[in-house]
Amino acid sequence: MNPFQGRVALVTGGASGIGAALGSALVDAGAQVVLADVNAAGAQRVADALANQGGATAIALDVSDREAFAAAATDVVERFGAIDYLFNNAGVAVIGNTLDMASADWDRLLDVNVRGVIHGIEAVYPRMVEQPDRGGWRGHIVNTASIAGLVPAPGFTGYAMTKHAVVGLSVSLREEARRHNVRVSAVCPSIIGTPMADGARLLGEERRLLDRTARRPRFPDADYCARKALAGVRRNRALIPVTPAAHIGWRLYRIWPGLLRPVTRRLAAELAPLRD
Ligand SMILES: NC(=O)c1ccc[n+]([C@@H]2O[C@H](COP(=O)([O-])OP(=O)(O)OC[C@H]3O[C@@H](n4cnc5c(N)ncnc54)[C@H](O)[C@@H]3O)[C@@H](O)[C@H]2O)c1
Repeated sequence: MNPFQGRVALVTGGASGIGAALGSALVDAGAQVVLADVNAAGAQRVADALANQGGATAIALDVSDREAFAAAATDVVERFGAIDYLFNNAGVAVIGNTLDMASADWDRLLDVNVRGVIHGIEAVYPRMVEQPDRGGWRGHIVNTASIAGLVPAPGFTGYAMTKHAVVGLSVSLREEARRHNVRVSAVCPSIIGTPMADGARLLGEERRLLDRTARRPRFPDADYCARKALAGVRRNRALIPVTPAAHIGWRLYRIWPGLLRPVTRRLAAELAPLRD
């Protein structure tokens, strides 16, 4: 059975990378897809490109704006009748030495990566609870976290803080939402080849280091990530680590945190150079 056929899916961050790939995979699976992004023109371009596959709708949305998210959810329900899947996927990265973080960097990370997810849940979860129960299922909230939400990520400390928050929120809400037949999952990829690195805020001299770590072509692409994420959603997994690297890193850390220390030491040395 295809659980996406005919369902309504709202995907934030749908203009680029993993969000655009999720949109494409969901359209292919027969869903009615709404791509929401602060980059409205970009979301429209993705929607236009999906016209031959079945079509998607683009809307402008800054997820850090609580009222805007509530209005967008109302708009989607009025146009499509429901929100069956909410993909809280929009996110931003700040990379570098925590000593170089400005207050604005912490705020941006919290506003988009944490409050953006909270606003989605505030706007959509109560609606899902009220939706008709269809065979023990009322809806599914899928939050894009990261392997940085499961293990230490030096050089990405503020980002890792937000993704740990998303994981904690997801696994806890999942247990609460079960009684309402609403599902909750967190997608936790390791590095995926997307434009995220281009938009990331670099705090210091990390550009060269970023090129070495985040741009290597061997990283899985966004389509791979979307396919694996949707496979995990189908199976109603709580945590969906997506890539072999994420699976291995997460399992090693759970067995014995020290097993990851060679990796985290190298990351700290590469991405967070000591200041003079
Ligand atoms: N690329 C990776 O290596 C990687 C790894 C793990 C997790 N993730 C997570 O995956 C998600 C998608 O990242 P991506 O790699 O596709 O990045 P991306 O930069 O390609 O896409 C992110 C999208 O989010 C949008 N966005 C940013 N701020 C927004 C806001 N305030 N409101 C609405 N939209 C906003 C951007 O315009 C962009 O279209 C993020 O949550 C990211 O943290 C990415």
